Amino acid sequence: MWPETVAVTGAGSGIGRAVLLAAASRGARVAALDVDESAATAAAAAARAAGAPDAVAVACDVSSEASVATAFAAVADAVGDPSAVFANAGIEVNGSLHEFPAADWERVVAVNLVGVFLTCREALRRLVAAGRGGSVVCTSSPAAFVGHSGGGNSAYAASKGGVSAFVRSAALDYAPHGIRVNAVVPGATETAMLTAGGADLDRIRAAAATQVPLGRLGRPDEVAAAVLWLLSDESSYVTGSHLVCDGGLMA
Ligand code: NAI
Repeated sequence: MWPETVAVTGAGSGIGRAVLLAAASRGARVAALDVDESAATAAAAAARAAGAPDAVAVACDVSSEASVATAFAAVADAVGDPSAVFANAGIEVNGSLHEFPAADWERVVAVNLVGVFLTCREALRRLVAAGRGGSVVCTSSPAAFVGHSGGGNSAYAASKGGVSAFVRSAALDYAPHGIRVNAVVPGATETAMLTAGGADLDRIRAAAATQVPLGRLGRPDEVAAAVLWLLSDESSYVTGSHLVCDGGLMA
């Protein structure tokens, strides 16, 4: 069975938006959470067009405890407590480690790791109270598992390594409640994040053609298909797992 109600953080763009639309097109009630309120509003409008008539946009900064609590309360009011949650919002800030500003390190960890904790805590609290099980999916990265030379990627890698460890541990804690916790590991996926630092998309595509076994970047809808499976009962015996969707990059 597909999840009845799905909340997605980082739903205003890229992978989160694709998951929101995929869930909407399968008949779920959906909530688009994003710090970029106008992007969330546009994503919710697209979800309504895709088949979720009461899709709602909710402003949410996942790095803020108060904002996450307020957002989940707003979701509950609008579409009901979610039966499945995609803790996906993330940012990437790269730079030489020996010159890396502590404030940037803290920001990356605050959004990517603390944000996952705050989102999952709010989701789990509500799922435990409802007593009907549920599914939580977090977005990790190949950076959690393999180094990326020359990319100045340490802060991002550390945050995603934390997400992966968090998922394994949380899965064990909530298995007795029938609540599954898994991670998706997208490879290089064609979203705004890839070019956020001013990188040239054509060069990234050309690099993917030679470095990725499947010879190209991933599409958000391809990652969304993997996430939807994890959010749904189709994956009912899967918890504490990482579903790698990377074109063979880490094979
Ligand atoms: P994106 O930049 O297209 O979307 C990220 C969304 O998160 C944006 O809508 C942004 O406004 C939102 N966001 C940022 N900070 C937030 C905050 N504090 N609170 C709430 N929302 C916030 O990027 P993409 O690629 O869709 O990224 C989604 C997730 O996938 C991230 O966790 C990213 O680290 C991860 N990822 C992406 C890969 C890629 O190649 N695109 C590869 C591996 C992982």
